[in-house]
Amino acid sequence: MKNTTTSIMQMKNSGHKISMLTAYDYTTARLLDEAGVNTILVGDSLGNVILGYEDTISVTVEDMIHHSAAVARGAKNALVVTDLPFMSYQTSVYDAVVNAGRLMKEGRAGAVKLEGGKEVCPQIKAIVSAGIPVVAHLGLTPQSINTFGGFKVQGKTEAAAKKLIEDAKAVEEAGAFLLVLECVPAKLAKLVTESINIPTIGIGAGAGCDGQVLVIYDMLGMFSDFKPKFVKHFANAGDVIREAVKTYIAEIDDGTFPAEEHCYKIDDEVIDKLY
Ligand code: KIV
Ligand code: NA
Repeated sequence: MKNTTTSIMQMKNSGHKISMLTAYDYTTARLLDEAGVNTILVGDSLGNVILGYEDTISVTVEDMIHHSAAVARGAKNALVVTDLPFMSYQTSVYDAVVNAGRLMKEGRAGAVKLEGGKEVCPQIKAIVSAGIPVVAHLGLTPQSINTFGGFKVQGKTEAAAKKLIEDAKAVEEAGAFLLVLECVPAKLAKLVTESINIPTIGIGAGAGCDGQVLVIYDMLGMFSDFKPKFVKHFANAGDVIREAVKTYIAEIDDGTFPAEEHCYKIDDEVIDKLY
């Protein structure tokens, strides 16, 4: 079944949780889509896991378009959500609409995601008015890493928790159809989830959210630069890949690969004449 913004919104209180994973390329998108994930996020985490930066600050709209279009070609049923990167929407409402439009037109995104609460509500309103569905993102918002001063849990004080709830209500009011909560205490994420009518997707935000998201290379055990507390390895694909590559190297060296079945034939008559 094809996932749409409507079908995903209807999953809140339906007894079914929303599944989201990141992907950045066609082949991975195909695999996730075949497995039945509801939504694929082309996250600006591609700055970390694809491009090897230490943060998401340097990711460009062009980077996002390039990867979003590849994912969209592989996602038959999953809804593709693509991140607006740093400085593509903070600068003005105009920039936000233009860049969201590019992610949809050139990147074939079904929705865009941006970070922030009240301060980006004018942007959310304008993007939604232009016909582009918006996902909001609160809690730890990695594009603001330099004001947070590090990756840590958010909303622990009464004031910060109150602000999170207010921001969640504000982004819903502005027209977001989905809200990502990152690195928020589980009980607070549950309270936020119960305080709004749009679904929440948690990452490091506990089981009280309406759905979950993880970075694909984290959950597959392929990315080892760092492992946040909220990551679970559902496979050890890193080990599988390293072992396969070691075997490949060894088999090239000892002549096991390529074998007869991997080779093309030519008539002996033809080859004999060449000797
Ligand atoms: O960029 C990303 O992968 C994200 C998720 C971690 C929510 O924004
Ligand atoms: Na992101």
